[in-house]
Amino acid sequence: MKFYPKVQKGFLSFLLLGASSYALADNAYLVMPNCLQNTLKEINHSVKANSDGFSLIHLDDGLLDKVALLAHRTKCGGFMNVSDRVQNQDYSDSLLKALKKPVFKTNKTVNRKIMHAEKVLPLLEKVEPKNSWRTLEGLTRFDDRYSKGENGKKAAHWIQTHFLSLVKTANRQDVRTYFIETGGSYKQPSLVTVIGEELDGDAVVVGAHMDTLSYMKPGADDDGSGSSSLMEAARVILHADKLNRPVYFIWYSAEEMGLVGSQKVVKDFVKKGIKVKSVMQLDMTGYRRNGSDKMWMIGDHVDRALSTYVQDLIHEYIGVDVGWSNCGYACSDHASWTQAGFASSFPVESRFGDENPYIHTGRDTMEHVSLEHMTNYSKLAVAFVAEEAS
Ligand code: BES
Ligand code: ZN
Repeated sequence: MKFYPKVQKGFLSFLLLGASSYALADNAYLVMPNCLQNTLKEINHSVKANSDGFSLIHLDDGLLDKVALLAHRTKCGGFMNVSDRVQNQDYSDSLLKALKKPVFKTNKTVNRKIMHAEKVLPLLEKVEPKNSWRTLEGLTRFDDRYSKGENGKKAAHWIQTHFLSLVKTANRQDVRTYFIETGGSYKQPSLVTVIGEELDGDAVVVGAHMDTLSYMKPGADDDGSGSSSLMEAARVILHADKLNRPVYFIWYSAEEMGLVGSQKVVKDFVKKGIKVKSVMQLDMTGYRRNGSDKMWMIGDHVDRALSTYVQDLIHEYIGVDVGWSNCGYACSDHASWTQAGFASSFPVESRFGDENPYIHTGRDTMEHVSLEHMTNYSKLAVAFVAEEAS
């Protein structure tokens, strides 16, 4: 009897806290083009706001997988998961406008020139295709890397262990890794790694998303390829001389659920006041349409000047043709950075629409992935980091 009030209080707060976090995880708010919203007939949802062709919708968080698959199939655009940003049931059209519009924090124009060939060229020699192939084998060994499942969580830890083994081999003391929890019903965190955190100067960021949709999704190309290209770029940079700025290699969680992980990461950067000079996203680096070695730049939801500079890097260091293409919507994690006002770029495997036709299915396997293509994106990431952080 003596302990009864205590127990009861604990039980009460357990109920309250448990209930409120459950309620949070249970709701999802998405911004999407109306043409996608129109196809959601079978999926229970409500439209909260609507403005120039876009809707803010509310639905049960558990229905996200269905929406993600549908979004891919209908090809009218993707969605951004804005659950974190909708508060106090403010559904006004102005909120929707604000959610879509980039918030420019950094208005600095950086003049970029290719200036460090003597540094970059020897590093490009160090890129070893077989390493990224091995990383990709490791990533596709999971049945899936679903951000709400145990596999997704295991994959995040596998990537961290793999990265830390590279740090050890390189014998670097100036590296740190940490997880950013995705929150809600997500089990998979994003993995952030930083080299030279103590250095002054705005950081250089390169990222890829590690997650897949649920159930038997090897995600070899989407985005095992970018995740593996990134790992090999990180290995080479770990073995390079110290650079002049902090360099972040990031593997995002829950991209497929509406850029959820990257929005959390960006929020954390803003909260900590980490200044960022430039961002590159690697999402799908392995598929060659008709065997073409051409590399592609996404032209929307990016910083145009930075992207043009990345094009120059491709011409200079990879020596292949570059094409430009738009997603037409916030199709990957570069958009989370752009929205928050950071200069972001997105080189990708093919023209939008010509990408690997097997993504989001059980057939997104290594047999449709070109190691040579993946390697060129590793080299691009190395050149980008070495030029930007020198
Ligand atoms: N890898 C794709 C993005 C992509 C598709 C890049 C085609 C280049 C060509 C990404 O994983 C994805 O599936 N994005 C979703 C949108 C996301 C916000 C849910 C999509 O495109 O439907
Ligand atoms: Zn995808």
